[in-house]
Amino acid sequence: MDCGIIPIREVLGGGYAGKKVGVRGWIYRTRSSGSKAFLVVRDSSGIIQVTASRDELPEREFDDAKKALIETSVVVSGKVFEDKRAPGGYEIHPDKFGVVSFADVFPITKDQSEEFLRDNRHLWIRSRYMTAIMKIRSTVTGAIHEFFRERGYCEFTPPILQPNQCEGGSTLFEVKYYGEKTYLSQTWQLYAEAAIFSLEKIYDVSPTFRAEKSKTSRHLSEFWMAEMEAAWMEIDECSEVAKDEIKFIIRKVLENNRDDLEVLGRETADLEHCLNASFPTITYTDALKLLKEKDGMDVPWGKDLRTIEEETIMNHFDTPVVVTHYPKEAMAFYKPVDPAAKDAPGQVAKCFDMLAPKGYGEIVGGSQRDTDVEELKKYLERDGEDPANYKFYFDTRRYGSVPHSGYGLGVERVIAWICGLENIKDAIPFPRTLARCSP
Ligand code: 4AD
Ligand code: MG
Repeated sequence: MDCGIIPIREVLGGGYAGKKVGVRGWIYRTRSSGSKAFLVVRDSSGIIQVTASRDELPEREFDDAKKALIETSVVVSGKVFEDKRAPGGYEIHPDKFGVVSFADVFPITKDQSEEFLRDNRHLWIRSRYMTAIMKIRSTVTGAIHEFFRERGYCEFTPPILQPNQCEGGSTLFEVKYYGEKTYLSQTWQLYAEAAIFSLEKIYDVSPTFRAEKSKTSRHLSEFWMAEMEAAWMEIDECSEVAKDEIKFIIRKVLENNRDDLEVLGRETADLEHCLNASFPTITYTDALKLLKEKDGMDVPWGKDLRTIEEETIMNHFDTPVVVTHYPKEAMAFYKPVDPAAKDAPGQVAKCFDMLAPKGYGEIVGGSQRDTDVEELKKYLERDGEDPANYKFYFDTRRYGSVPHSGYGLGVERVIAWICGLENIKDAIPFPRTLARCSP
């Protein structure tokens, strides 16, 4: 090559008209007629039209340009021309057209079923749709690290193989562990609670596993959770951190991924609104009142909120909402009772969920942590667990216990909402669900 290779996005950025550039990538679209081949080439940064002419290329190279199928890998160089009709406004007229590897007939064409695309996810991740989502995903996880590090949190990595449940035995994935059995992590929480006694403020972004036995558009069997845990922190402060984190993530996506949101056809007005709005906090009891008064829905006090109820509540809001103080009896064993709650003191827990608008459901779940070992034992027994298996956890309460709180943010739930996806399966490159563990 007599000129350097540059990203396609750079060519489209302007300043190259009349100059010679080199690009490399994969054929995205192709069509030829007589002495011309009209190709669109994509790389990780964008797509550009390449118009190959018989009289500007050596014969063999022009023949290659004509016969190369979609996904053929190519290295091209030539002069850049401005052309309003071309995607991005520029095209290249190559004087060199090198095929790196010819592609077979690509199995993915227009209008294929979601299932077919998921069966071929290893190829579908080349689509502009999946590329845009994966770029946004990278911004989201990067933003999470940045958010916590800026605030003095230390990254702490939990074990993935864990002997105990924390979020309910029924969704554990069992793993053979030499002669014994163990489980894949449902949450980092029990280990995070041990680590705050040295690090105080910690966070992580880790793979998380739950055997979710129903098919929904919001549940994955393998997902990533961004969690935080902090010593000396009570529940109110904790839910404010979650609000700030969500805003921080949205700001970063709007700063870095406007083009990607456009590829997805995602309008951004509601996301921009979230940056300047304050997210309401309501209690569970208030939420039930709202459902009754505004929607005529009668949910008996004490029942956890179902998807339909969460969605109905969220029809009344245009930003995420924090719902606090769920009934203690419906909660996980580690969420402490709040004896001084505004509504139903002594019957609700110091906990919160953050719900996203537009039916995306619970994006964050968190709580203060019970420090009373007897209470913890009682509720573990309620759940059919043997407290003897939690000795290490009780130890964390025995040596200088402090008030502490934490939450987990569902990374794919947040991505699905920000990207406006119909199904959470597209928020992760290779989804694992009840029905799928391949490719
Ligand atoms: O509400 P969850 O179950 O909370 C916990 O696991 C706590 N131990 C976290 C903590 O306090 N450190 O899960 C947290 C979030 C949910 O709000 C949801 O966004 C997401 O994780 N989530 C899932 N996302 C995708 N697929 C699933 N099956 C999910 N289950 C939970
Ligand atoms: Mg939850």
